[in-house]
Amino acid sequence: TYERAFMALGGVLLVLCMAALVYATVAMGIHLPGRAGEIEPGKVFTTPPFDNPGVHQTGPNQYDVVIIGQAWRFHPTEIRVPVGAELNFIATTFDVIHGFHIEGTRVNMMLIPGQISRLTYRFRKPGEYLIICHEYCGAGHHNMYGKIIVE
Ligand code: CUA
Repeated sequence: TYERAFMALGGVLLVLCMAALVYATVAMGIHLPGRAGEIEPGKVFTTPPFDNPGVHQTGPNQYDVVIIGQAWRFHPTEIRVPVGAELNFIATTFDVIHGFHIEGTRVNMMLIPGQISRLTYRFRKPGEYLIICHEYCGAGHHNMYGKIIVE
């Protein structure tokens, strides 16, 4: 009957919607923030791995990139990574909400007090990329940027 066909269509649309959401989350790199209470914001500089921000090799072609946002800079300000390597970004904030966006890429995270943001990315092309804070974080917001050198 028409009614059953209509219900089936509704079910198919629902599944498509969920698939689109999963695709958006995974493939497009839309970031789902971490859990609240993962880290104490005031103690990030003494809590591993944030006590040692920067690029750390974890495998043959694999690196952790540990980042802290603080009004109004990133720690570290400048990082160097190899082209093609798997980069696991691990980031948080010391104070207020910041953004972490690498221009020209899908790397786009919110840094939320108490939470750890994670995202994996590989650069296909060498070059210099600007890192910008794209969440308003106060008077120095427009000066909050960094650089990533892919070589
Ligand atoms: Cu940090 Cu805007």
